[in-house]
Amino acid sequence: MQSGKPGLPVHVAIIMDGNGRWAKRRAMPRFLGHRQGVQALKKAVRYASQEGIKILTVYAFSTENWQRPQEEVNFLMELMHKTFVTEIGELHREGVRIVLVGDRTNLEPEILNVWDQAEKVTAKNQGLTLNVAFNYGGRNEIARAARNLARKVSLGELTWKDVTAETLEKELYTWPSPDPDLIIRTGGEQRLSNFLLWQSAYSEIYITSTLWPDFKEQDFAHALHSYNQRERRFGQVHSKENA
Ligand code: IPE
Ligand code: IPE
Ligand code: MG
Repeated sequence: MQSGKPGLPVHVAIIMDGNGRWAKRRAMPRFLGHRQGVQALKKAVRYASQEGIKILTVYAFSTENWQRPQEEVNFLMELMHKTFVTEIGELHREGVRIVLVGDRTNLEPEILNVWDQAEKVTAKNQGLTLNVAFNYGGRNEIARAARNLARKVSLGELTWKDVTAETLEKELYTWPSPDPDLIIRTGGEQRLSNFLLWQSAYSEIYITSTLWPDFKEQDFAHALHSYNQRERRFGQVHSKENA
């Protein structure tokens, strides 16, 4: 496992929620909230990088988000495409390694092309790993992992006894990233919304009512501070009681 600064999470994951409400409060259309959300994302990536976080996973589009009005879905697809085309150069200069975590099967070829390109260009970068969860769903991910293992068993590459938590983990989209230490959710909802279901088993969760487009360095710092105050027990006895 990658080690980082003491007290600092190695892997932070963010559920970037609240774009629509941000726009609504300003009597603006929802899509302007999404556009503003990209600015918040750029800030968060830079901040995570500066602070020495190794991995940042951001939830950008869920498998359930296809159920939104067609107009909004189209806008989000175009926004992602455009953002990657315009930002890839700078991300590469900053040493960021980009990885798509999500279901590639029903994405438009233009989206997949820009993603393949981004992953290829930044593959050897040594800075922050930016996992972009796009067309991502935790259940879809676990079902796919199980299917991959079932195929290996049927081909005789594995036996049924090899189907374990360790082998299943290796089939997840996020492999080889370690589990997130900290999951931040903006927008105040107290749920995971199908995000990193397997990987969040022992993640610390930080929820803020701040809407994603308003999420700034200072908010990120608060989340890191909160994380730093916690004792992670992983099912064991409190460290003091153990002495
Ligand atoms: C999160 O903001 C962005 C995506 C899900 C793509 P929302 O669009 O869910 O914003 P709210 O929750 O409606 O405010
Ligand atoms: C979660 O937000 C998905 C992303 C941030 C991409 P949603 O707005 O889709 O979640 P629900 O519908 O409130 O659970
Ligand atoms: Mg939402």
